[in-house]
Amino acid sequence: MAHFPEKGERTPWHVSVLTLFPEMFPGPLGVSLVGQALEAGLWTLATVPIREFGIGRHRAVDDTPAGGGAGMVMRADVLAAAVDHARGAVPDVPLIYLSPRGEPLTQKLAAELAAGPGVMLLAGRFEGVDERVIAARGMREVSIGDYVLSGGEIAAMVLIDAAVRLLPGVIGAAESLGEESFEGGLLEYPQYTKPREFEGRAIPEVLLSGDHKKIAEWRRAEAERITAERRPDLIAGRPAKRPS
Ligand code: ADE
Repeated sequence: MAHFPEKGERTPWHVSVLTLFPEMFPGPLGVSLVGQALEAGLWTLATVPIREFGIGRHRAVDDTPAGGGAGMVMRADVLAAAVDHARGAVPDVPLIYLSPRGEPLTQKLAAELAAGPGVMLLAGRFEGVDERVIAARGMREVSIGDYVLSGGEIAAMVLIDAAVRLLPGVIGAAESLGEESFEGGLLEYPQYTKPREFEGRAIPEVLLSGDHKKIAEWRRAEAERITAERRPDLIAGRPAKRPS
């Protein structure tokens, strides 16, 4: 699965994932929109099997925590070797360690990463990684939410999916990115399609009116209502007036 770009080869958006479980990739990233973009070469994916950089006959990647306590910690020297190997092939991408301790993954961060050359992602396992390698290799820590996963791989996939769909050419002109959730700091308004009536529930009359101004106003009001109900924190964080 590891195919690093050749020197001089144009690689629109390159992802390397450092993991103990390379067989998890591309997994769900190999299907649908993001999978088609991968096949089309709009982004490229290389996995770096951390085990190959392990120490000794058993290729040890972890050890007991200094100071005692439960679980195992991934070794700084092993991870540094894996990072340095991957960096040799793609030197200029930001390096992110997926961790529940990190800054939250937001639509803004996904867009920021999509605008860059790609990402290098470290997916941890066990109790975490030796703190020194985070500092020594300048890793940015990113969390996908306030819960603990058994490893960073699924978090890495979430980040990749969120960024890849924003790359130029991934989403066609017909499918708009403009009006989805978080655009303008609001959740998305409700959507309806045929049939006109479903189990006694009708499509809101205004959507069938053909009055585009009224429809836009209704959608805006619904987006504000839903956001206020479900995510008042988003309302609080919004600028008072949206730039038009
Ligand atoms: N690894 C384990 N839990 C995580 C989370 N919530 N976000 C990112 N990486 C993780």
